[in-house]
Amino acid sequence: MTADLALRNVRIVDGTGAAPIEGDVAVTADRITGVGSAGPAAETIDGEGLTLAPGFVDVHTHDDGALLRHPGMEFKLAQGCTSVVIGNCGFSAAPAEVGAKDPSGLIGVPPDWSDLAGFGAALEAARPAVNAMALIGHNTVRSLVMGDERRAPTATELAEMRAAVATGIEQGACGFSTGLIYEPGRYSETDEVVELAAAAGQAGALYATHIRNEGDHLLQAIEEAIEIGRQAGAAVQISHHKAAGARNWGKVVESLARVDAANAAGADVTLDVYPYTAGSGPMAQYFNLDRLDPELAEVIRFASCPAFRPYEGRMATDIAAEQGVQPVDVIRQVLTAPDGDRTICIQFIIDEADIETNLAHPLMMVGSDGIPDLEGRPHPRLFGTFPRVLSRYVRDRGVLTLEDAVRRMTSLSCDRFGFADRGRVAEGQFADLVLFDAETVADTATYDDPKQEPAGIELVVVNGQIAYRSGDHTGVGTGRFLRYQPSYR
Ligand code: ZN
Ligand code: CU
Repeated sequence: MTADLALRNVRIVDGTGAAPIEGDVAVTADRITGVGSAGPAAETIDGEGLTLAPGFVDVHTHDDGALLRHPGMEFKLAQGCTSVVIGNCGFSAAPAEVGAKDPSGLIGVPPDWSDLAGFGAALEAARPAVNAMALIGHNTVRSLVMGDERRAPTATELAEMRAAVATGIEQGACGFSTGLIYEPGRYSETDEVVELAAAAGQAGALYATHIRNEGDHLLQAIEEAIEIGRQAGAAVQISHHKAAGARNWGKVVESLARVDAANAAGADVTLDVYPYTAGSGPMAQYFNLDRLDPELAEVIRFASCPAFRPYEGRMATDIAAEQGVQPVDVIRQVLTAPDGDRTICIQFIIDEADIETNLAHPLMMVGSDGIPDLEGRPHPRLFGTFPRVLSRYVRDRGVLTLEDAVRRMTSLSCDRFGFADRGRVAEGQFADLVLFDAETVADTATYDDPKQEPAGIELVVVNGQIAYRSGDHTGVGTGRFLRYQPSYR
């Protein structure tokens, strides 16, 4: 049999964590059809000196709308990412009210769908460059059912929300997500979340959470997440694990110990992290206008600021010094301006040592948490996350071996999020592949110049087709809307 594509003389890092082997890999249609030796092929690529791995999986994204607005997904594809998990932090494109304004501002596309099946159809019609798997978001569901009510749901509202989550899971979602610091999820008590997470747990799907507090009350929030998983009968994914704020740095050691203890006692908890010392998100959600936090204002940088475009890429402290005011005054000025609620900020709140502690944990995956607003100056994690792990934390710092880093970006993620037949270089798997130079692969995106594609990524294959080659996006658009396979986990 003649294969469609042969990648010859490559170093295969297969995604399982096993030691690399040298050889060829054959691809026919959308599958891997040979590993070791490839036989004849219609197209051959010589990968001498290069490493071939399964395509990277970004388990924490806000790409729901970007898949439709920017179907080329250049910022992900150029990193070697072939799949993304959308609907994180409680914000998902589905369910939705047709034509309604997205209350979070994170999706950025007026919906012409009402449920996940409809969103999936819109996504496939857009022919995105990468695959996507969806979570159903708590904030989204709660806004639809309860508006911005700051109270517990009635029994009827709770049943309606649970039905919405269950429908999403039936239509292929891999789980239920929360963002318990955000509007309106922050008004929920633990028992509301348990009830909704149980709709996921019942179907063998995940509970993924941006926990209620990542700073002073990190440990209580971790305990709440573990408890929700226990009561709901759901596996738990702790999103972007961190200890926020200088006085909390180092606490990740203790929160990881709590996760380990829970797992030893029968829980099923895993985590993800992004390799940067700054977070990013909708600024209006982090500040209370009645008492602006001066400590937080000190570490804020503007990413997207429709109200004051010249502020983009600048620290609030620098703008304040220039204007002879306090940083909190700059925050107030922005938040009270028209469109101020659409500001995306970057906040420098994380300790470098904590990133290494996180990455060393065996159940830690990689998720960018990038916010795909390309108009301003986004956090560089949108363009650099995966190459940064391979360059800084594998090659420079030696925190992980290459095989182990690839495992956390591929098989671990696919097994956890229910991607059937993906995440390994093995015969019969879907041909999602990345070919890169392990000696030169590196992120080049910086806070000042964030929209830069990484170095050292040579070739990216999505469902058997070449989507990226030596800096060129081929535009084949072979990404798929994937449905969770519960038996797979
Ligand atoms: Zn989050
Ligand atoms: Cu997020």
